[in-house]
Amino acid sequence: MSKHRVSRRQFLSYTLTGVGGFMAAGMLMPMVRFAIDPVLKAKEGGDYIATPLKVADITNEPQRVDFTYEQVDAWYTSEITETAWVYKDEQDKIVALSPVCKHLGCTVGWATDKEHPDQFFCPCHFGRYTKDGTNVPGTPPIAPLDVYPIQEKDGFLYLGKAEPRKEA
Ligand code: FES
Repeated sequence: MSKHRVSRRQFLSYTLTGVGGFMAAGMLMPMVRFAIDPVLKAKEGGDYIATPLKVADITNEPQRVDFTYEQVDAWYTSEITETAWVYKDEQDKIVALSPVCKHLGCTVGWATDKEHPDQFFCPCHFGRYTKDGTNVPGTPPIAPLDVYPIQEKDGFLYLGKAEPRKEA
């Protein structure tokens, strides 16, 4: 059996050093992450997320697409699921719209209002948007639906971060 004994002074010294180191790491890690975050993001290649939707399956009728990705926030990883309404316009261009209503953030649906079957409808305060995401004047939303940047990879649709529509 070891005869080595830890004195009270040593014990306190070890304990305080350990606790101090732990606290210092807790304060420094967010700063380090903040400093190198742009480098990490650049490596990810633009943050486009794969969706389960094949580009070949996109039609002129808006269809709901749910896609999931992992979000890493310091030490915590969570799974986020987002939704897009995706269709091809008259020029065969793929359009991916955010379902988040620009009034107070409820979720809009396509053709869910019987009186306006060719529009997006928000059930919270009866907001409406035309197929291209333009808010219908006289309804509560004051801006068009946000738009996802899109990419095609290996036949599947990839979506970036939804952003406000840029006026042409
Ligand atoms: S939240 Fe959509 S109309 Fe109010």
